[in-house]
Amino acid sequence: MDRIRIVGGRPLKGRIPISGAKNAALPLMTAALLTDQPLTLTNLPHLRDIQTLCQLLAQHGVDIQFDGTGNSAFSTQARRIVLTAKDITNTTAPYDLVRKMRASVLVLGPLLARCGEARVSLPGGCAIGTRPVDLHIGALEQLGAHIAIDGGYIVASAPGGLTGDRVVFPKVSVGATENLLMAASLAKGETVLVNAAREPEVVDLANCLVALGVEIAGIGTDTLTIQGRQSLRATEHEIVPDRIETGTYAMAAGITDGDLELVGARSDLLESVFKTLRRAGLEVADTAQGVRVRRINGFHGTDVMTEPFPGFPTDLQAQMMAVMTRASGAAMITETIFENRFMHVPELMRMGADITIHGASALVRGVPTLTGAPVMATDLRASVSLVLAGLAAEGETLLNRVYHLDRGYERVEEKLAACGAEIERLRD
Ligand code: EPZ
Repeated sequence: MDRIRIVGGRPLKGRIPISGAKNAALPLMTAALLTDQPLTLTNLPHLRDIQTLCQLLAQHGVDIQFDGTGNSAFSTQARRIVLTAKDITNTTAPYDLVRKMRASVLVLGPLLARCGEARVSLPGGCAIGTRPVDLHIGALEQLGAHIAIDGGYIVASAPGGLTGDRVVFPKVSVGATENLLMAASLAKGETVLVNAAREPEVVDLANCLVALGVEIAGIGTDTLTIQGRQSLRATEHEIVPDRIETGTYAMAAGITDGDLELVGARSDLLESVFKTLRRAGLEVADTAQGVRVRRINGFHGTDVMTEPFPGFPTDLQAQMMAVMTRASGAAMITETIFENRFMHVPELMRMGADITIHGASALVRGVPTLTGAPVMATDLRASVSLVLAGLAAEGETLLNRVYHLDRGYERVEEKLAACGAEIERLRD
């Protein structure tokens, strides 16, 4: 298995291109199941999760073509994908693929709405928590689906099609909102989703569904009203830039005392994050091409609590914690979304960090130095937090289980090396 070797201590300076958002691209790709017409997505990131979803969609019968050579000077591979689900030949999402990537459960809503049936493996728990899908199932039942759990599969049917209803989510869920938005797009009549997620990736999906011909009111708010359609048309849609990748590199500038321009980044997607980073002592400013981040005024312990959008994202909690290990003073970091998202803590402590966990909070006391060490992580964001710590540590850090990083960060070592980091991938 590949590893990443980092020798820390170099300030990052230069420009980093921000890719399309993984968590927008995945639901957008599943939306192709809703129509027999081509859905073209541009600004596609090159990630392992995208490949996994391509495999899943292909086995449902979706024709997939890559085309073009990119829309930014930095890209070297195809950035455009054309997905055509002319005939859905198989409505089962098998365990082997779903277990690799939980987002596979997003095929449930579209398959059920289009074909009147779907069999989707239950994703099961994962490193960051139990992550049930009860909200997806309950809400689809409200639209008239019959759902049973059989042999580890969600077996859903709606032979006469789905019918719109008012769905009140008891808890904000990005995935359940996305599944329901897609299901409601082909349901009869009107669906109202109350307490819907407002994440930019949900907004991106809703905008794409509108381009496909669905009428949706309230986009960007917590109440979405969807008028279902009998069929949807073709469209082309550009995937929103990745706000989590943006935030990660902004923090890389912070922890290395660097100066980075994040090309293609959109600061309006990261207001709470940038507010926090400014409080910590960074300057964050819009530029003609993106966002520039540099440290101007010390670097101070700053408290953070994760929340649904527009709050501080759970997907940047681990990175923020890595950055706070080097701040002056202490920071209290509280995770409210997932119950087990502190797996990076013992690894950061092996690098010399001073962190105490109390329930859902971690008290991080800044230390003057971190020291490189062999480390590994069990999920994507925890892995990249160790990369950030490695960039600031004295000596060598060897990151194992790099496949987690490859799920969600495109060419991370190339992007960082281009800005002066001593970082390389060791291939096995
Ligand atoms: C999405 O996961 C993201 N994944 C996650 O990113 C992200 O951490 C998460 O939203 C929160 O922002 C994708 O977009 C592909 P949720 P999702 O449903 O949709 C509970 C990353 O690193 N819940 O909003 O699965 C759940 O357990 C990943 O890129 C239920 O109880 O998250 C959690 O506590 C990791 N029942 C909370 O809701 C349900 O049916 C929010 O989860 C569904 C969720």
